[in-house]
Amino acid sequence: MTMAMSIAQFTFFSRATSSSFLNRTNARFNRFTFSTPFSTADATCTRKKNGRLPVLSALELGGVKIARDDVVRDDPTNNVPDSIFSKLGMQLHKRNQHPIGILKNAIYEYFDANYSNKFDKFDDLCPLVSVKQNFDDVLVPADHISRSYNDTYYVDSQTVLRCHTSAHQAELLRDGHTHFLVTGDVYRRDSIDSTHYPVFHQMEGFRVFSPEEWEASGLDGTSYAAGDLKKCLEGLARHLFGAVEMRWIDAYFPFTNPSFELEIYFQEKWMEVLGCGVTEQEILRNNGQLDSVAWAFGLGLERLAMVLFDIPDIRLFWSNDERFTSQFTKGKMGIKFKPFSKFPPCFKDMSFWINESFTENNLCEVVRGVAGDLAEEVQLIDNFTNKKGMTSHCYRIAYRSMECSLTDEEINELQRKVREQVETKLNVELR
Ligand code: DAH
Repeated sequence: MTMAMSIAQFTFFSRATSSSFLNRTNARFNRFTFSTPFSTADATCTRKKNGRLPVLSALELGGVKIARDDVVRDDPTNNVPDSIFSKLGMQLHKRNQHPIGILKNAIYEYFDANYSNKFDKFDDLCPLVSVKQNFDDVLVPADHISRSYNDTYYVDSQTVLRCHTSAHQAELLRDGHTHFLVTGDVYRRDSIDSTHYPVFHQMEGFRVFSPEEWEASGLDGTSYAAGDLKKCLEGLARHLFGAVEMRWIDAYFPFTNPSFELEIYFQEKWMEVLGCGVTEQEILRNNGQLDSVAWAFGLGLERLAMVLFDIPDIRLFWSNDERFTSQFTKGKMGIKFKPFSKFPPCFKDMSFWINESFTENNLCEVVRGVAGDLAEEVQLIDNFTNKKGMTSHCYRIAYRSMECSLTDEEINELQRKVREQVETKLNVELR
């Protein structure tokens, strides 16, 4: 994975230089620490041994029935594991008492108040989309890294789990919508740490202008849309974060030109809030908007919710532990999460000779497949090539439950399975 893509979760399509990017261990994205003392009483641990819930065989999404076998198949064109299938249909963004749902509603509130309910809202669109919807319709180049099997979950060669909510722009335009917000779960193969999870949530915003709207201003359509976009999103950032300092950074996305990122100065750091821009004319033209201009934006809800609610680890959003879920209230943005426990992590190292097809995302998929949400972080700690040209990687895996202490036996068993599967599934030679 290149540096630019290694922070894929939030700026998948951005092609800024690596120096302007945070890499996940450095400063631009705050690392969080638990701030209150741990609870003394040990929690009753309700998780299954591997931290995963049993997999259902079918579910319904926005009126579409989806069977496990439609999504997880033993076929070289498919790379969706059960752990991902089990996340389909969870719809955290539709829970009004969950931080992701509370944040979605707060953004809705801003748009409803400022645009007199003009934005149509979608939060139930099926996450299974075609390669055309996910990539071609929004002009993602044929050779773009995001199309790779290493980065995206493919159900078959023509169908993916959407990796961004931009996948719905074209169909909604064709259906005649000119102002819309799309919220949904998105899926990306990725590494493991406190801010990265293979499923997260995005909101996409889109607004179309007709010529009368900009002609009166004396500006050209693109400048008019860019100005309106910036005003709208600065207002949104103030609605969510209060009177913060903001700055605009030039960016690259295949679907917009010009493209920008909005950053705010928050908790003593510049933090990227969203990506946006003026929609490429080709997208509008291809979808029935001949003389219009439009703006679009996309934001990652977890990223914002982590800082707004003080949530230190992205896995917590998926916790059913009442000590997490009971802390949040419908309609309330100001609540800060109080850590209920801090169980000790356990670190296990493993070294192996990699082969040509080895990728860190594949390793992380194996680790998540075995340990589920008990895997807290996978970190490359040593990397060298010997005289024969063989390359060795040593990874440190941190296991930690949010809900209870893990026993040595449990961790040893997880690590044994990880080692076994790394060897058989990734075809590498353990050292
Ligand atoms: N789809 C982008 C991503 O996932 C986010 C984004 C950027 C959406 C710019 C937009 C946009 O609509 O205009 O990284």
